[in-house]
Amino acid sequence: MGAQIIDGKKIAELVRAELKLRAEKLIQSGIKPGLAVIIVGDNAASGIYVRNKVKACSEVGIYSEVHSFPSSAQQSEVLNCIQSLNENPHIHGILVQLPLPSHFENNRVITSIAVEKDVDGFHLYNVGALVTGNTIFSPCTPYGVVVMLERNHIPIEGQHAVVIGRSNIVGKPMALMLLERGATVTICTSKTRDLHEFTKNADILVVATGKPRMITAEMVKPGAVVIDVGINRLPDGKLCGDVDYESVKNIAGYITPVPGGVGPMTITMLLCNTILAAERAQANIKNR
Ligand code: GUN
Repeated sequence: MGAQIIDGKKIAELVRAELKLRAEKLIQSGIKPGLAVIIVGDNAASGIYVRNKVKACSEVGIYSEVHSFPSSAQQSEVLNCIQSLNENPHIHGILVQLPLPSHFENNRVITSIAVEKDVDGFHLYNVGALVTGNTIFSPCTPYGVVVMLERNHIPIEGQHAVVIGRSNIVGKPMALMLLERGATVTICTSKTRDLHEFTKNADILVVATGKPRMITAEMVKPGAVVIDVGINRLPDGKLCGDVDYESVKNIAGYITPVPGGVGPMTITMLLCNTILAAERAQANIKNR
């Protein structure tokens, strides 16, 4: 029996339809949700991500604005921009597209974002809140993975989850979010010795290594839930994940495709965090 395919595109559409209704409700109450995106330099992939974020915002009724800086910009210029966005009542979410040029200090820039507008959840305060189980904003990619599991009624509590990858954007927050939901979590990296010994025991396997097709069928427990966060461009121009989809789909119980799996969920959860930020701002106005 082949794996059930977790259709990220379909789940993203459903969630976006719900977000549109929440945005309409906010607009009726006089608050148009607003997102500001800061991009520094001319990284081609970042440019595409930002354009996709702007388009997705307009589709669900979120106002968005982009602040672009050349790679030669000084950090202080970006900090000043963030300061004025922090004070702007029309902006509920602020994100700084990563990577920043090497002369920037990532944490200095990210921690200058107001905690209640940090819709990426990358501010050190928000990272600490996530660690202690008092999440303010869940980082978008792992949040999207959790929603994909939930919408497919896949249990997390008591399951052995293996996360491969230790990035601040995916691996680490993913492990914390699964732990918070009662999973037994093992964190590996692409360099883990005898990696298959770990992956073979995973009920839920989340792969975020950036190594094309590194997870093969022999490494997967029959019936496991396999979530592929990777998106890699092959020499022939085609996209593939970190999981060897063609072989693993015959072993796994559930699997996410690439493209059309986790990818569409990441921007959806950014929209979700922005709406949440606007709803919180509205509640604060009401309670004043
Ligand atoms: N660069 C790659 N992924 C992300 C993300 O989720 N947020 C931001 N701000 N930058 C990124």
